[in-house]
Amino acid sequence: MFLPLLRLFQCFLLFGFCSSSSISYENLNIAIVSGYGKMPRNVQIELQRSLIWFKNAISVRKFEKSITSTELLNVYPKFSWINIQTAEKAQDLHVNSLEFAKLLEMSNFVILINRDIQKCQIDSELLANAKPLTPEGLNRPKFAIMNVCQNFQFSNFFDLFRHEILHALGFGLFIPFEDSIPNRYYNWWTPKGTQNVSQIFMDFSKRAKRVVSSHFNCSTIFGVEADGFKKNHLNEYIFGNELMTPNLESGQNYFSEISAAILEETYFGEKPWYKVNRKYTIEESQKYWYGKNFGCNFIKFSCWKFLETAGNKLTFPFCSINNERYCLITPTYKIRLSLKNCQQTFNHQTQITENGLKAFPGATFSNSIHRFCPIDKNFINIPKNHRIELC
Ligand SMILES: *[C@@H]1O[C@H](CO)[C@@H](O)[C@H](O)[C@H]1NC(C)=O
Ligand SMILES: *[C@@H]1O[C@H](CO)[C@@H](O)[C@H](O)[C@H]1NC(C)=O
Repeated sequence: MFLPLLRLFQCFLLFGFCSSSSISYENLNIAIVSGYGKMPRNVQIELQRSLIWFKNAISVRKFEKSITSTELLNVYPKFSWINIQTAEKAQDLHVNSLEFAKLLEMSNFVILINRDIQKCQIDSELLANAKPLTPEGLNRPKFAIMNVCQNFQFSNFFDLFRHEILHALGFGLFIPFEDSIPNRYYNWWTPKGTQNVSQIFMDFSKRAKRVVSSHFNCSTIFGVEADGFKKNHLNEYIFGNELMTPNLESGQNYFSEISAAILEETYFGEKPWYKVNRKYTIEESQKYWYGKNFGCNFIKFSCWKFLETAGNKLTFPFCSINNERYCLITPTYKIRLSLKNCQQTFNHQTQITENGLKAFPGATFSNSIHRFCPIDKNFINIPKNHRIELC
């Protein structure tokens, strides 16, 4: 009885606090369990690649006890044969088999595949969605549900699964105990007049706010703008091809320091649930280029104000003649940016954006996702090994 107390005392003296990170965190080992069998081969391969990515990129708080078949059957009772996919392999196993129990024991987070046909039908563009099951007390979640729609034409399942599994861990889905940053109203400026619009901010984003300030070069932001009142995602218009915006691009979506900071801050209790391995994610985070140094006029006023005050700097993917001095550099060729992908002809009259903006009559630019701004519609297809530089 005496010994543990002594050890506790010693470690207070030596380290200032008691658990060093090597003791209470371990690599995130995810098991995906499905009673519906495997997905198409190309999709299943991308799912496995994403699990390998999580294993390297994210560490989680250790539980004292490993996950058991009995626990699994409580939350996923319908099936007796199950396909289990881990970072290492995929197997069809009986829920009562020893191998199945072993694979569960080696995992520290389990995602249950669900088919919510109704949800997929209501929104024909939905690819997948995921959320954690309510954890016990202040612990991190152990189980999550992922619904994958039978919509297998998409070209970037690796990013899709990274995005959904981050939600499964809780990204954008928990509500903090302390007050959130209040919503703000401001005047959205355009050459045709102004409109009163809202700004809603992400929770768990104290540190992410500093990262956003530095990425956009604007020290006076109020918070990290969310995509509407649910606060599930980073705002699409502001953050573009960041991984945690609601619309995934078919080109690269970057897991930046912004999302990494929000994930690490998403927890209850004394110690973070998750840690991001910067060695593994820093390169991708540094490559995240959308909005870099766009300044306060972009993030606090409007794309129009930004374009008007941009001087001679690159505004891509927002359209200005400045961009014509720049080239898209691919591994095999380079091509000058042009304005020909900027003008789009939608009928916007009935559209309203997530921040409450209505299109001005006669607007001929992008749709509500990009707040009717002039934006180069090709930017969503730019793969990760391409850069934009002065020609
Ligand atoms: C903008 O709209 C909100 C909500 O409708 C309102 O509370 C606020 O006073 C308005 N602000 C201005 C400047 O009109
Ligand atoms: C950042 O903003 C400041 C103040 O507006 C400006 O002087 C500076 O040139 C900007 N830096 C970059 C890299 O755009």
